[in-house]
Amino acid sequence: MTFFTSATPQGAQPAFGLSQNGRAGMQMLGSIQKFASTRLRSTARANFEGAEAGAALHEEHVDGASDRHSVADRVKRAKAVAYADPVFRLERFFQRYVAEENFNRGIPAIEERRSQFEAFLVPGGTGRGRLQLDPTIDPPAYHARTEWHLEPGGWDGYDLYGPLFAFAVGPHVFRHGGYAAVGPGTDITRQRIDAVRQLPRERYERIYEPGCGGVSTFRAIAAVHPEAELAGCDLSPLLLRNGHLLAERQGIQVDLKQCDATATGEPDASVDAVVTYALHHELPPKENAALFREMFRILKPGGDIVLSDPPPFRAVDIFHAVVLDWDTDHREEPFFSASCLADWGVELAGAGFTQVEAYAIGPDGYPWITRARKPETVQ
Ligand SMILES: C[S@@+](CC[C@H](N)C(=O)[O-])C[C@H]1O[C@@H](n2cnc3c(N)ncnc32)[C@H](O)[C@@H]1O
Repeated sequence: MTFFTSATPQGAQPAFGLSQNGRAGMQMLGSIQKFASTRLRSTARANFEGAEAGAALHEEHVDGASDRHSVADRVKRAKAVAYADPVFRLERFFQRYVAEENFNRGIPAIEERRSQFEAFLVPGGTGRGRLQLDPTIDPPAYHARTEWHLEPGGWDGYDLYGPLFAFAVGPHVFRHGGYAAVGPGTDITRQRIDAVRQLPRERYERIYEPGCGGVSTFRAIAAVHPEAELAGCDLSPLLLRNGHLLAERQGIQVDLKQCDATATGEPDASVDAVVTYALHHELPPKENAALFREMFRILKPGGDIVLSDPPPFRAVDIFHAVVLDWDTDHREEPFFSASCLADWGVELAGAGFTQVEAYAIGPDGYPWITRARKPETVQ
């Protein structure tokens, strides 16, 4: 998720929104998503664990080797068991259907009221934050060739993606949870706050978020650490423009810059904390290693880093590992499985961080937190 998923403060009535027809279409997708991820998925899980091969794999995953190759092989064998079950396949069919229809139905619903939603994007607000775009930046090849999450044209493929998520997909579909690593019935706004709370200190002067997208996580950071100066980057100009606009409108002062998170241009030792949210599974493993080195460079000695991303396969049951793995090939998430096989704690230690901890703060291992500290003295 990259944009604000609800632009309306709780309890307030929006000044405008989708037509009744547009809303009904999105609500139907929300109901399908909910039914698939609750009733159908729990039946598929029971079928998997009730099958002799599934039960054996479940036990093996609990007790077995947790190195990358053993886990990858186990997930491959579990896939064969799960995919043989028509209930699992139907659940996955609905997942894919909803993921596509979010755009097939959502974009026409926004287009029906284009002028209203264009007006939503008119700048206005405090004028305190900063937006630095750089038209000379070419996105890395892996970024440009993917239609992330099946979004036509990728992150920047449709000028009204901001309103699409804020008024259609967010409030009517995503609010039920139950897609990708997000558990059914869980609330990603709440999860962002919970993730930010994993920063161990009470106060920070400057907090940085690489891959900040449309500033949803900055909203959580500003709520938990109102004292902190905020800065972040993203590759997508569309997301940054939307994020800047909404931050200004909501009184959140944030310095946003278009750049690759592996080369931020921030001075050495210039931030007290780094928070990431839903970023690492979007990058190839090699890029993540470069990203951790860059975050180590810009953090002050003693600074904290908190990563929040989908869980590793080794930390969830084997049926859920198959569910996570599915996103790689079926929801345009090319690095999802690679990131579930990675160990961000080991990668952070490799970049020089110490006091590494990794744990889940929600059901099904999500959000999965990895946190660490830059040592006071760097050798
Ligand atoms: C799933 S979104 C999460 C956005 C945001 N962190 C949030 O909480 O909503 C992932 C974001 O990472 C950005 N991204 C991916 N690769 C990047 C890179 N190498 N440098 C900077 N941003 C990147 C994408 O453009 C996208 O906005």
